[in-house]
Amino acid sequence: MSMTYYIHVYGCQMNVHDSEIISGILELEGFSSTEDPESADVILLVSCAVREHAETRVLGRLSQLGGWWRGRKSGKPLMVLCGCVAQEHGDGLLKRFRDLDLVVGPDCYRDLPGLIRGSARISVVDFREGDYTGIEPVRVEFPRAYVTIMRGCDNFCSYCIVPYVRGRERSRKSDVILSEVAALSEGGYGEITLLGQNVNSYHDEKISFPLLLRRVASAAGTSWIRFVTSHPKDLGRETVEVMASEKNICRYLHLPFQSGSDVILKKMNRGYTVQEYLERIEVLREAMPDIVLSTDVIAGFPGESEEDFQKTADLLEKVRFDNAFLFKYSERSGTTACGLEDSVPEEERLARLNHLQELQRMITIEKSGELLGRTLRILITGPAKKPRQQAGRTEGNRIVILDDTDFCPGSFLNVKITRADGWTHFGEPCGNMES
Ligand code: 5AD
Ligand code: SF4
Repeated sequence: MSMTYYIHVYGCQMNVHDSEIISGILELEGFSSTEDPESADVILLVSCAVREHAETRVLGRLSQLGGWWRGRKSGKPLMVLCGCVAQEHGDGLLKRFRDLDLVVGPDCYRDLPGLIRGSARISVVDFREGDYTGIEPVRVEFPRAYVTIMRGCDNFCSYCIVPYVRGRERSRKSDVILSEVAALSEGGYGEITLLGQNVNSYHDEKISFPLLLRRVASAAGTSWIRFVTSHPKDLGRETVEVMASEKNICRYLHLPFQSGSDVILKKMNRGYTVQEYLERIEVLREAMPDIVLSTDVIAGFPGESEEDFQKTADLLEKVRFDNAFLFKYSERSGTTACGLEDSVPEEERLARLNHLQELQRMITIEKSGELLGRTLRILITGPAKKPRQQAGRTEGNRIVILDDTDFCPGSFLNVKITRADGWTHFGEPCGNMES
């Protein structure tokens, strides 16, 4: 009988896709997946270290698993911690969690089958050159697929742990990316998202990001293309031109600004000013007036004064993003910001975060309201909560729910928006797009 594994993932899209790669590696070696941790031979957690809260959650789960398996009929499963927390703490985790068997960092997943079959309790967290080319990921989100174009990050934003746990920036070969994209499009995937910590600095010999994007758009046929994450300092006009001219590149961009104060941006080592950020937004909106924009913001970075914070709130109001991911600053050990003085008290960080959340909630509602009565194209992504309900996504990544429909995941259709509730919208199929 083959060994069964249960995998649970925390964190960003990169981690979700890494877990698809882990499944690919294991299944190639004869392991089979199970949704039931109770019966699994191996339990894998793919962890996120970007903020303390994410790390606490996975470590909490590890402690809880230690107590839990003792009541299991099938005895102790092999427990494996993968992902960024594995890379961050390595060996130390084996000492801290006595039921944990393996700690495996993001570059070492190819070793998993051997490590699982072996008997050593070890941590394998080297940074390695290669990527996972040749591994067929076991995709879990049909008709949405991810393709990694680069791994790691060289930016060292002062608050961010990513360069330490995911290593230096490495771009994948463009011909491999293009053939993966073409195969996904032929396989009926309606949406393909290119992944990288900073996609705009992609480089494979003479091929930079805008050219890669152009080629990906043509390899993708009628499938939609998205890409995350863009860095304002590296988002050039050429990329905007490619987005505006290629029909299947979604008119959607996630462009984190992090802070609306130049003083804080400098301390964050972001490499742009508020003015420069606003110029990028202007170029994007000029080229694509209907572009949907989202962003990331951090409240309460060390030294952030009331005035600096107000500038962040002002920027949210000025740009009126369709959606925003808002965080309170979290110290990550080893990062340069971690040693900075003038830390903002925890309650104040929380108060600032709440303020931004309320502000953005109103903006999101207003912007969603503007869509009532409009016809938008959506990709059906799968069943929603209620029977005969289907969920879909617009080009702008908005969620749209349709009642009483039997369209299959992967189909594109036009819908009229009838109601909106924040980022979730409700609609009815309709024949014609408005002009
Ligand atoms: N504290 C709070 N938020 C952070 N992010 C990254 N590091 C931290 C941190 N130490 C946020 C940034 C980034 C997003 C993925 O997570 O906004 O864009
Ligand atoms: Fe972290 Fe900055 Fe790299 Fe993004 S660009 S992963 S925030 S260091």
